[in-house]
Order: sequence, then C-alpha cells, then structure tokens
Amino acid sequence: MEEKIKQIAYGVLCDESHALAGTREISDIRVTDDIITVTIAVERINDAAARVEKEDAMRAAIQAAFPDHRVRIISIDIADDGEPACAHSHGEAHHDLPPKKRIPGVKNVYLVCSAKGGVGKSTVALNTALALSQMGRSVGLLDLDLYGPSIPSLVGSDMPPIVVGNLIVPPNIHNMSVLSIGFMIDKDQPLLWRGPMVAGVINQLLFEVDWSGNDTLIIDMPPGTGDTYLTILQSVEVDAAILVTTPSEIALADAKRGVGVFEPYHVPVAGIVENMATYDWEGRETVLRLLDDVKTDDPAAQKSLERARKMIETTKSIRIFGNHTQSLCDELKLPLIASIPLDIALQNDNDSGTPYMLNPKKVNIQSAFNDIASFIVNRGNRES
Ligand SMILES: Nc1ncnc2c1ncn2[C@@H]1O[C@H](COP(=O)(O)OP(=O)(O)O)[C@@H](O)[C@H]1O
Ligand SMILES: [Mg+2]
Repeated sequence: MEEKIKQIAYGVLCDESHALAGTREISDIRVTDDIITVTIAVERINDAAARVEKEDAMRAAIQAAFPDHRVRIISIDIADDGEPACAHSHGEAHHDLPPKKRIPGVKNVYLVCSAKGGVGKSTVALNTALALSQMGRSVGLLDLDLYGPSIPSLVGSDMPPIVVGNLIVPPNIHNMSVLSIGFMIDKDQPLLWRGPMVAGVINQLLFEVDWSGNDTLIIDMPPGTGDTYLTILQSVEVDAAILVTTPSEIALADAKRGVGVFEPYHVPVAGIVENMATYDWEGRETVLRLLDDVKTDDPAAQKSLERARKMIETTKSIRIFGNHTQSLCDELKLPLIASIPLDIALQNDNDSGTPYMLNPKKVNIQSAFNDIASFIVNRGNRES
C-alpha cells in the first residue's frame, strides 16, 4: 500500500501542471487504519499558493485511490542547503522565516522547559495545569516530548483522541484537554523520529488539533534544545517559557545555557521553578516528641539525647541538591516562581497515575503548584 501511495505522490510531484519549484522529495509515508499521512519536503522559498495547490492535488489523487482513508499531506520546509529548516541550530532566528502562527482559540501558551531530563518538567506541567483548572481556567495540556511522552502514565489514561472533520479533538481528562503522542502510538513502538518528521508531528499537534476554548495551553517540552524547540519557537506564538531545574550546580549551569535558546525567537523566559529543592522529613516531629518522653538521670545518656535532638532539628528541610537557584535567578534577573520539595507522595502519585493536585488530603506541595498557576494568571492575557 505504501508503495502505491508513493507512486501516486511522486506522480503528482512530477506532474508539470502542478510544477512546484524546489520540491525535493516525499520524505515520509505513514498509514494507520484510517489515516494516510504523506510528508513532502519543499524549499522555504516556495510561494504558499503553489504549495497549497500541490498539496490539494496530491491529497485528491491519493484519496481517489484510497477512498476509505482520510488523507493528510504535510509539507516540511527545508533550507536552501537541503537540510530540514528545523535542524538549524545556530541559535539565531532566520529573518526570512514565515511569521509565527497563533494557536486558534487559545489565549495563552506556556512552555515548560529544561535543559536536562528528569528534573520534573512533566510533573510541573501536569500539576500546574491542574492548579490552573482548579482556579477556574479552561486548560489544555500538550505533551511534546515525542521521544519520551510521560503524560499518559502521569494522568493514568491513554484514551485515543477522536477526529472530527479535519481536526483532532483531544480527550477530556481530569477536566482538561490533554494530548500526547503517547495516546496515538503503540506503547512498545520505539520512538525514532527522523528530523523532518519532528516538525511535521509538532505542527500537527499544534495546528491540526482543536485547542479552541482553552484559556491556557501548557506545553510539556522534551529536555534539551533540539528540533522540537526550534520548530516551536519558529512556528508558534508563545507567551513565555518556564524553566524547571534542580538546585544542583550542574543542573543550573545547564539551565543558564538553556536560557539563550529563547532570546533569538523573542520568547521571554518568565521565571524559574526549582524542583526537588528541599526534603522535609515528615516523621521528624514524632521522633522529637518520642525523645521528650525519654527520662534518664545518666549524664552520658542525657548528652546523647541532646545530640540526637539537635541532629533531628537540622533535618527540618534538607537541601539535598544544593542551594544555588536564587543566585542563578539574581544573575539572570529572573523570578524564582516556586520551590517544590522532594516528596515521596508526589513520586508515588506519578507512578500510579493519580495526579497529586487531585488529592485534597495532600497539601504539602500543592501550594507550590498553586504559586506557579497564580504566577501565570497574574501575568495576564496576551494583548488583542
Ligand atoms: N518534587 C518531586 N518529588 C519526588 N519525585 C519527583 C519530584 N519531581 C519529579 N519527581 C520524579 O522524578 C522523575 C522525573 O520527573 P519528570 O516530571 O518525568 O521529569 P522530566 O519531565 O523533566 O523528565 C519522575 O519519576 C517523577 O515522579
Ligand atoms: Mg518529561
């Protein structure tokens, strides 16, 4: 079937009546039970009308041969040197890029980012989105970690989205519109995206999805500064990025480097969230009370008790990973939006797919997520 689609697609590409200068190749063909997706690589300089005409012709030709499938054509820009445009990583915005697009019907778009993996982006993205929703905002949560989507397991659902007309409708999970590539692919399928595919998939998740009606869209980003970042920063209007980091020196050095990615694209970094900042030992108060009950006249034992009490008192809030975030914030002139403690309950909730913010009994960290949500609310809406 792929072979036949390829033949038809190349037939249209080579058809003089739809000649499109700069079209390079069919870069990918994907077939599912009901959708055929063909990705073509075209030079950025092509005029939009010619491009749409070519896409329409290709869609019609493939549709005629496979009437039971929905056919989707994705054009991916390639630069003049033949590389996909999204693979440029000079850290400089290209002045000839097409203008950024707004996600239709969404007031605010926030990226939850970090230079490193495993610092808690997905945890922060999910629980901040839930905190916003609890404050009465309508919220969308988009997982753009194409290589390691973790939102499905964090929300405890992998409900596939439905398609209405030409748009994907994200499922409503915990009162939010939630979408992850993890809802659409086989869990065990290795996630090996070729460079140009990344841009195609991201554009689809942003612009071929019905996000309308959401006040705020929170985007859970992958770690690092690769293709996903460049595609998003080049193509979509974003209000701000929120950087998540742990307070260790190494993580902060990476965070500092990470900040530079946004500037050329005029995306402000709103502030920093410090995760796994402190460890608060819950049993501490109980142990102190138990020590109070120990009565002894033995001076050596009294000394030991006193030492034990002092040691326990210093465990109130341990900074396991260091205490460097505030100085980084000062240096970068960025606000420290919230400090989230390391908490076994949060880890357990993540593992069991029952979001921390939804449990009314767990208040330890909820105030930190509420702080992030309030920060977003207080930044206000984009003009117009
Ligand atoms: N404050 C925290 N306390 C305890 N565990 C946490 C905390 N934040 C994140 N985790 C755990 O750390 C791991 C990485 O978090 P995750 O949100 O997936 O990070 P990232 O998206 O940056 O890769 C997960 O197992 C998560 O449950
Ligand atoms: Mg993640």
